[in-house]
Amino acid sequence: MFSYFGHLFLTTLYAYFGLTCRFIRNAPGIRHCIDLVNSILLAALRTGPLPKHVAFIMDGNRRFAKHKKIPVEGGHSVGAARLVKILTACYNLKIKEVSVYAFSIENFNRSEEEVKNLFNLLRDRLTTVTSDDNQSALDMGQIKIRVIGNKSMIPEDILKDLEEIEEKKKHYTGGILNICAPYTSRDEICYSLQQITSDASDGNIENVAVIDSDYVRDRFYYGPDSAHVDLLVRTSGVTRLSDYLLWQCNENSTIHFTGTLWPDFTSIELLRILVDWSFNRFLNLDDPESSQIFKSVPLDTLQKPPPLATVTKN
Ligand SMILES: *[C@@H]1O[C@H](CO)[C@@H](O)[C@H](O)[C@H]1NC(C)=O
Ligand SMILES: *[C@@H]1O[C@H](CO)[C@@H](O)[C@H](O)[C@H]1NC(C)=O
Ligand SMILES: *[C@@H]1O[C@H](CO)[C@@H](O)[C@H](O)[C@H]1NC(C)=O
Ligand SMILES: *[C@@H]1O[C@H](CO)[C@@H](O)[C@H](O)[C@H]1NC(C)=O
Repeated sequence: MFSYFGHLFLTTLYAYFGLTCRFIRNAPGIRHCIDLVNSILLAALRTGPLPKHVAFIMDGNRRFAKHKKIPVEGGHSVGAARLVKILTACYNLKIKEVSVYAFSIENFNRSEEEVKNLFNLLRDRLTTVTSDDNQSALDMGQIKIRVIGNKSMIPEDILKDLEEIEEKKKHYTGGILNICAPYTSRDEICYSLQQITSDASDGNIENVAVIDSDYVRDRFYYGPDSAHVDLLVRTSGVTRLSDYLLWQCNENSTIHFTGTLWPDFTSIELLRILVDWSFNRFLNLDDPESSQIFKSVPLDTLQKPPPLATVTKN
């Protein structure tokens, strides 16, 4: 009970603080203060409900490059660096699983050079953040990494490196990073159907009734042990899902669209989105946990108030 109200209070404070600090952020010395309050509130956020699985559609690298008048690769590169920061924030918050839409199958329609660059960047960044002897890899050290999607579309030399990283990180339990590349939900569903058809032709399905939604899901690229997505964030103001996690988002998932371009997306903005999510989760009256707290009491069942009393002489 106390922790609930403590959490509510701190998250309100945080949301309020987030608004105010927009105006004062540039004042001298304030930066340090903001960092301090952020770390306190980060600790407070951890006491409330947090999503188990968060997914990102990292949109806006190309637009960012155009605004800054730098080449497209520059935009992707800044975006990749931003991803490491965001991932670190997620795992610090003890969010168990993070998925990122690194490469859509539709992206193969981009120029050959951009496609090549994207895959090279993916490999280089992964190699950096997963190397055992690198300071910047510190927070990511114990994260299990999985490449999710139609791997046969990945250039061979890159696939070899990615699989090596996957293998090396297979047994880690500090959290999960799903890198969806090259991925679309429709392709994933087709993949599952192909597995089921081959199960059937091998004579492994005796009764079609065994093919329920769990059976289909277990045969996804994602595999059976992935949690459904609690929060999906898409940046850069595009309000489409673009064929991402159509199955993994269920009736309880929150989809958050923000206008910020991915390279400008900060962990402060992420915190604000998480506070919002956490608030809504608590205030969801269908949830047995919060309906206990907000149980309504009919007025006539309350005790009668005591007769009026006064402490003055008259
Ligand atoms: C690429 O674009 C062409 C024409 O616009 C389309 O026919 C094709 O299906 C697309 N390929 C992929 C992989 O999306
Ligand atoms: C460690 O990470 C830094 C920053 O990303 C990078 O410049 C450096 O090359 C990396 N070192 C190794 C050994 O991977
Ligand atoms: C995966 O990609 C390969 C090569 O492009 C293709 O032949 C295959 O049909 C794809 N698999 C699925 C399930 O879409
Ligand atoms: C969604 O949330 C409700 C209420 O907490 C729960 O009863 C239901 O099982 C959830 N649905 C899924 C698919 O997890």
